[in-house]
Amino acid sequence: MFKAVLFDLDGVITDTAEYHFLAWEKLAQTIGITIDRKFNENLKGVSREESLRRILAHGGRENDFTCDAFAALAKSKNDHYVEMIQAVSPAEIYPGILSLLQDLRDKGIKIALASASKNGPFLLEQMQLTAYFDAIADPAKVAESKPAPDIFLAAAAGVGVAVNQAIGIEDAYSGIEAIQAAHVLPIGVGSPEVLGDDIAIVTDTSALTLPFLEKVWQEQEEGKQ
Ligand code: BG6
Ligand code: MG
Repeated sequence: MFKAVLFDLDGVITDTAEYHFLAWEKLAQTIGITIDRKFNENLKGVSREESLRRILAHGGRENDFTCDAFAALAKSKNDHYVEMIQAVSPAEIYPGILSLLQDLRDKGIKIALASASKNGPFLLEQMQLTAYFDAIADPAKVAESKPAPDIFLAAAAGVGVAVNQAIGIEDAYSGIEAIQAAHVLPIGVGSPEVLGDDIAIVTDTSALTLPFLEKVWQEQEEGKQ
């Protein structure tokens, strides 16, 4: 059986993926760029700086800003985002997540955070979830962000579990790619159109129960035989 579950945060544990979108949408507007939810799928799981690069390229403005101006734009987005997440509380935890964390703890299965967000530790505090996590991988310390495997490798190492004994849960396509590159077993939250039809997917986090994870794991084991 698996020994660790490596969680993405934004869009898996709570709805902060929406706040990231709203903050980027507003920032983009200030420089005359329009983004929609479809384009936003390309930003999910992606680091703050890379997200801004993609938005500027989308608006054909990739060469219009100096390094300082670029950093100011990224800061402005984050300031707005941080303002929005001050109100996040345990009430915002997605359905099923708390009982999954409790069941994993009861079984002695390790729990780690593999989020690209530098605001991850703050959000766990806001939701009173910090105590459930045996490790929080630091996105500032990994060389490459998602879709590279680094943050999932760091999360697995953080709880001392081999990658082939871990499950990773993600709502972003870049995140699923990162999980697969790390040789961790992926479970997607979302739709097969976005995440691919070759992995286990739930449309709603309430389906993320321990028996469901055990079933996905079992099926993978059987597939190896
Ligand atoms: C990821 C989000 O979890 O974190 C991205 O899916 C976000 O949308 C990235 O850009 C970085 O987050 P932050 O909070 O460090 O800007
Ligand atoms: Mg996410």
